Amino acid sequence: MLGVLLHANALRCIIIFIVVFSPYVAANGNGGELRPIGGIVDYLSSNGKEEKIAMEMAMEDICAYAPLHCGVTLSFMNSGNDPLKAASSAKELIQSKNVSAIVGLDRWEEANFVAALGNTSEVPILSLANNIPLSTLMQWPFLVNMARSPHIQMKAVAAIVQSWQWRKVTVIYEDTISSVNGIFPYLIEALNEVDVVIDYYLPLQAVPPYSIQEKLRDLQSRQSRVFIVHTSSNLAANIFMEAKRMKMMKKEFVWITTDSITNSIDSLNSSTIFAMQGVLGVKGFSPFHSQVRYKEFSKRFKARFRSKYPTKKYLEPGNYALNAYDAVYTTVLAIEGKPNPRSLSNNLNNNTAVHGGQKLLARILESKFMGLNGEVNLKGGTLSPSSIFQIVNVIGRSYLLLGYWSEGLGFSVKIDNGSSYCYFVVYDDQAYSTTLDIVLCNEVKHRIR
Ligand SMILES: *[C@@H]1O[C@H](CO)[C@@H](O)[C@H](O)[C@H]1NC(C)=O
Ligand SMILES: *[C@@H]1O[C@H](CO)[C@@H](O)[C@H](O)[C@H]1NC(C)=O
Ligand SMILES: *[C@@H]1O[C@H](CO)[C@@H](O)[C@H](O)[C@H]1NC(C)=O
Ligand SMILES: *[C@@H]1O[C@H](CO)[C@@H](O)[C@H](O)[C@H]1NC(C)=O
Ligand SMILES: *[C@@H]1O[C@H](CO)[C@@H](O)[C@H](O)[C@H]1NC(C)=O
Repeated sequence: MLGVLLHANALRCIIIFIVVFSPYVAANGNGGELRPIGGIVDYLSSNGKEEKIAMEMAMEDICAYAPLHCGVTLSFMNSGNDPLKAASSAKELIQSKNVSAIVGLDRWEEANFVAALGNTSEVPILSLANNIPLSTLMQWPFLVNMARSPHIQMKAVAAIVQSWQWRKVTVIYEDTISSVNGIFPYLIEALNEVDVVIDYYLPLQAVPPYSIQEKLRDLQSRQSRVFIVHTSSNLAANIFMEAKRMKMMKKEFVWITTDSITNSIDSLNSSTIFAMQGVLGVKGFSPFHSQVRYKEFSKRFKARFRSKYPTKKYLEPGNYALNAYDAVYTTVLAIEGKPNPRSLSNNLNNNTAVHGGQKLLARILESKFMGLNGEVNLKGGTLSPSSIFQIVNVIGRSYLLLGYWSEGLGFSVKIDNGSSYCYFVVYDDQAYSTTLDIVLCNEVKHRIR
């Protein structure tokens, strides 16, 4: 009797052994050895932390759904928020780890440095920076942009200004090459189209060796009272704290923030949000976040993030994390020869694995599948830009969603098919933003607060 039991257990062990280990046999059958890829993220930034977790999850998921792909391994290195450090990490990954592609590099400056190395060693570089100018992509064929450019939002900013019929604005921006090259041409063009003049540009460095107060005082004396703020959320927090002290967060002034700030409102502290009362913001929006697949991912992601960083604020995965996930997926599928997967679990793969170089690049560029954050279609070396944005108003401890703006359709109160698109006008009484009215298409006034 005992003998039979043991025998049954032994058999089960063998079965488990086959189930668990056969994928590796399959992987090794297809191409021989393990195929390493690299990840370069900023270990200390919150985006970097999220990206790393998302990339690890992508590796696990692709292994679970399609055991064939387990032959690919992922090694991480730090970018240290420094283009030079990012480049030396990339060199190390290419030379010592023999990686066939690199994913990460969420800042344009880093991607730009590493692109040269990717080009000479023919290693595709999938960057998560969302402000890479097209000219840079054309210069470096091995640089692939795995992010949606938010540049179309500048039309939303212009539409807000137009709906108030203001004629002059001031642009406050962080003085980096990427903001000047990446977003300015779009902002200037969008404002030009609606006959709005940029009265004044105020460039600010990220770390002030200067006094924000002095810079803002210059603004007080100017005619234009509409400020478009395009900076990192850290710098914006300092600007708004100072503006509040200087009594510039009042009715006579209008502040409009771009997605680099508005996307991070939830991570700002309460005194900053208090200072920002009344700010209008353009915020990134993805229609895919209502999907079951996203919700499941988000739940797993949050659990994992919390167990790794228990003291951090508990947030939804950001766009950087979602794109990082899709970038790893794209790379593994391309290596294994399935850039257009109809079914991931189909192991009868006609294409053979490639290790890198032109062939891998060609496959990455022909990727076409549904990712976690929308369609991954890399024709032209980049994802198609975002075309829908939310318009929000900072009120109380967070913000209020006023509506949406989308390319070609303009403003709408809802994003579904049934809603009519129209202008909305936001105006206020005595104290800035204590009352907001939205004029809907049917002229019915809709009092929000
Ligand atoms: C690097 O990887 C390629 C393909 O996997 C392989 O042919 C080559 O021998 C590897 N080089 C080193 C130094 O490991
Ligand atoms: C990048 O590499 C390609 C060949 O792969 C080459 O034609 C091109 O000149 C390189 N670009 C630069 C800027 O070096
Ligand atoms: C909130 O953030 C601002 C800007 O980063 C900072 O100056 C301020 O000290 C912070 N306040 C608290 C209470 O942490
Ligand atoms: C694999 O695909 C090629 C075309 O890409 C085709 O000619 C060949 O017959 C296919 N082989 C198998 C076994 O399906
Ligand atoms: C929404 O509108 C588009 C274009 O008119 C149409 O193709 C699509 O089927 C509509 N979707 C729903 C859910 O009604």
